[in-house]
Amino acid sequence: MPSHKTKAETTGLFFSVSIILFPAFTSTHIGIGGGNRPGLPSDYSTMNIEFKWFSVESLQNELEHHSGIKYIRNPFQIKDLHKDFRRLFLQISKEIGSPVSQNTQGDLLLDIQDRGFAPNDLRARGPYSNRKLSFHTDRCDVIGFLCLQPAKSGGENQIIKSQEIEKIILKERKDLHQILCSPFPLKRHNMDSLNPSPYCLQPIFSWKNQFFACSYLRVLIDRANQDPECPSLTEHQEEALDFLDSVCERAELQTKISLNKGDMLFLNNWTTLHRRTEFIDYNEPQKKRHLLRVWLSMPNSRPLNSMFKENFGAVESGAIRGGIQANPPA
Ligand SMILES: [Fe+2]
Repeated sequence: MPSHKTKAETTGLFFSVSIILFPAFTSTHIGIGGGNRPGLPSDYSTMNIEFKWFSVESLQNELEHHSGIKYIRNPFQIKDLHKDFRRLFLQISKEIGSPVSQNTQGDLLLDIQDRGFAPNDLRARGPYSNRKLSFHTDRCDVIGFLCLQPAKSGGENQIIKSQEIEKIILKERKDLHQILCSPFPLKRHNMDSLNPSPYCLQPIFSWKNQFFACSYLRVLIDRANQDPECPSLTEHQEEALDFLDSVCERAELQTKISLNKGDMLFLNNWTTLHRRTEFIDYNEPQKKRHLLRVWLSMPNSRPLNSMFKENFGAVESGAIRGGIQANPPA
């Protein structure tokens, strides 16, 4: 199987990112892990795809113990994605980890598309807009994307390794590093409506049994800061966040990946930060930028500081954790 390490170009420098290239398919055999598996929808046999899967163990290892970034270039080797690739992507994701709910409806796959909501609309989450997002982490161990349709322009994925950021801050501003290792208030997410707490407290940088973890979503910290029900940030905390953001802007630290149709990208959420640039869509609805996203709990995940228990449900290594609590079935 042609799997190899290559280099993804960044601005001015090169970063090692694991990329998997697949051969063109030649037969009608469907297989994940080298053969047909129970549990795959039977209609995959009509899709005329030879799908040679890579080692799940090696992918899990790469995400947890090495770069934290896995870019897989169009493994389906096709130009037009059939609607059943939703189920195929979910099946692949289940091979890698355990998908967790991304909203109160319990959806395991989220459609990332600009839905044109007004900025003050509570539904106007980053995934449903075309605006540039700031560097952040999500609410899971691993984030996975499948690109169904790239934008007309823009929409580049930018990734940085959070421990590199942490080391720079420790070297240049040890005083602010110490602050970033202490708890910050985060406002409850709009989508997290079943959570009764108005806010939670979490550190940006933390360790547990020598395992590093970074968790950062400034939009929720800023919302807490503006909410009279939540603790306010100190001047030093604001300075620490501004400095963190400024380090993230250093282009030489950023790995930039433009996903094309059929590409997949998996990121360790505890060791990388990510964002997306602004994008412009085509006018035709069927050509608008469209990614599928999964949030995964990983069997080989790292243990977390106990302060994450409230927001993630569990902190033990390999635990099912994160996601958004779904409404109980009616
Ligand atoms: Fe995100």
